[in-house]
Amino acid sequence: MTTLSIIKADTGGFVGHSAVHPDMEHAAREWLADAVNTGLLSDGQVASCGDDLALIMVHGHGADAEAVHSFAWELFQHTTSIAQRLGLYGAGQDLLSDAFSGNLRGMGPGYAELEFTERPSEPMICFLADKTEPGAWNLPLYRMFADPFNTAGLVIDKNMHPGFLFEVYDLHEEKRIVFDCPSELYDMLMYIGAPARYVVHRIHSKTLAATAAATSTQRLSLIAGKYVGKDDPVMIVRCQSGLPAVGEVLEPFAFPYTVAGCMRGSHHAPLMPVGLDQAHPTRFDGPPRVVALGFQVTDGKLVGPRDLFADPSFDRARQQANVTMDYLRRHGPFEPHRLPLEDLEYTTMRQLEDDLTDRWQPIHEAPAPAER
Ligand code: F6R
Ligand code: MG
Ligand code: MG
Repeated sequence: MTTLSIIKADTGGFVGHSAVHPDMEHAAREWLADAVNTGLLSDGQVASCGDDLALIMVHGHGADAEAVHSFAWELFQHTTSIAQRLGLYGAGQDLLSDAFSGNLRGMGPGYAELEFTERPSEPMICFLADKTEPGAWNLPLYRMFADPFNTAGLVIDKNMHPGFLFEVYDLHEEKRIVFDCPSELYDMLMYIGAPARYVVHRIHSKTLAATAAATSTQRLSLIAGKYVGKDDPVMIVRCQSGLPAVGEVLEPFAFPYTVAGCMRGSHHAPLMPVGLDQAHPTRFDGPPRVVALGFQVTDGKLVGPRDLFADPSFDRARQQANVTMDYLRRHGPFEPHRLPLEDLEYTTMRQLEDDLTDRWQPIHEAPAPAER
């Protein structure tokens, strides 16, 4: 089996939270080249979306492998030291733990890993997002693998007719459930329509008996118990030959649907599909961005990337995202631009609320304001 791992972290922003500094990307590239030379990886590439540095790696160690995770952890410590030297913002932001123990679970960096047996041709898309949370993948995954109005193959391709298994995590209760779709579509939508809590973690093809998609699912705030920036999730989707075609996998992003994130991780805003050269959110720390990097994985090597949203057919989505952003911004601090209170629990607003706790009085017992 081969494993494709995307491991990512925000180890410092240039400027503010808008981008990764070129020196950090350069260092990460050198480390990955070394790891290929020593045989740890069969191939590796560096990419970034906003202030998040992503390592896209192919290897034979399987998911959650200590060798690969500890390599990424050390690399991120190195890029943190570069960020500190340059005085970049939030240096080491996502490295929540002091010591590495076994794998990156609960340590801050996000990761999506997909184990597969390489087909004669293996097209895969690595999605990287900034200024949003892992539930942001729920809507497009539903559309790719369950919605015949998006994916013609669900109707036309014999291998897709039996459908797909969706593994969904409850991030609050740390539980999982598998939905057999299409028969359990409606049951699944009850949950994944609430993406702050329920997140699609993996999708499995019933016909191919193979994993078709994998996402990063950690919520930094749930790990740290406080606001430490948004999770900025990643996702891997395999394409073609019984799986959604490349164009079907990209199609959901032609609609810039609303996600949670943006400024202070506290606002709803549209997700804008962009090419790599536009993946640097500046206005109101947004709008949240997504890039799609296409690869052919051949004999363990990454042939690519193709920058798949650098295509005029996504211009309308970008334009609509800007119009939607203007509309939402005019709500200022009011919902639904600002997230509902339960989703702000881990932000700095909670401390401010605590300061006012004693000032609240029962409505019927309180004297009129003038008599106070
Ligand atoms: C988004 C994000 C930013 C910051 C904001 C304030 O994920 O991290 O929107 O929340 O720029 O940052 P501080 O409080 O560090 O000045
Ligand atoms: Mg940041
Ligand atoms: Mg980020």
